[in-house]
Amino acid sequence: MSRRLLTEIAGLKLANPTMLAAGVLGLTGSSLMRVVEAGAGAVVTKSLGLKPREGYPNPTVIQVNCGLLNAIGLPNPGIRHFGEDIKEVKEKKVPVVVSIYGFSSEDFARAAKSAVEVGADALELNVSCPHVEETGAEIGSDPELVTQVVREVKNTVDKPVFVKLTPNVANIVEVAKAAVETGADAITAINTVRAMAIEIETTRPLLANKIGGLSGSAIKPVAVRCVYEIYRHVDVPVIGCGGITDWRDAVEFMLAGASAVQIGTAIAFKGLEVFKSVTKGIDTYVKKKRLGNAKEIVGLAQNF
Ligand SMILES: Cc1cc2nc3c(=O)[nH]c(=O)nc-3n(C[C@H](O)[C@H](O)[C@H](O)COP(=O)(O)O)c2cc1C
Repeated sequence: MSRRLLTEIAGLKLANPTMLAAGVLGLTGSSLMRVVEAGAGAVVTKSLGLKPREGYPNPTVIQVNCGLLNAIGLPNPGIRHFGEDIKEVKEKKVPVVVSIYGFSSEDFARAAKSAVEVGADALELNVSCPHVEETGAEIGSDPELVTQVVREVKNTVDKPVFVKLTPNVANIVEVAKAAVETGADAITAINTVRAMAIEIETTRPLLANKIGGLSGSAIKPVAVRCVYEIYRHVDVPVIGCGGITDWRDAVEFMLAGASAVQIGTAIAFKGLEVFKSVTKGIDTYVKKKRLGNAKEIVGLAQNF
């Protein structure tokens, strides 16, 4: 482990700035464990709610050019059933961020309380899912609703709160500022981009839900722009996410202003080795630049 990579996000100590993105391999203790063993600096669980939820019928995930399109519908076992899974991972001393969703600010607060009771080191509020009605992006598109959710959660729990934003808004900075002014400890940017695909022979939309969220390389420039804009306007760490597939992508996000990076879709294409190769690449880059720690590259692109 290189000291150059030690990272701190809202008081959480990470051995390196890579994290597992929510919803990809984060549904059981054993899958989280595989990611920890692959070298991630922190893991984020699948988004969990108060009650178990089934999600949508298939097809829920399809491959498109440069990425994945998904509308899974937030299937999950409910937070209370997740305690054992988290306990196992925590023994490895890697921070576990529990992603939560709810259909109202009270729901979010109750989910946050349960998540902390089962061992969350931090919470990530999913106010950005693009394909489930009355939660996710419907909340995250409205700064006033985001304010209510963050306030309620912060009044209920005493752990760091990350707010994960949707790019599907006219002004992401406005939403980030609303979250931070109400006490968000970090901003995660971004969730998937609302998208769809149609099969031309059958003339049918490919996803059962018709509309879903695009992830992977296709969205990287959108995500880099969001991180760059948010970093200029908030004084909490920004966690970059969206299309990171190699160390160059991770460095690009950090130069834009990301203190850490989350990786999701690349795992499907490259396997879990992506964590080690990204980490090693960042380390070599920082060393070549003759710097002492990766945090020194955060936001450097803002100087131009
Ligand atoms: C199959 C799949 C499931 C996802 N589930 C969630 C989820 O439960 N909660 C959430 O906040 N984001 C979820 N996401 C979004 C990712 O966490 C991430 O924000 C997005 O995919 C962009 O990063 P990537 O290009 O590295 O995948 C999901 C993405 C995929 C591909």
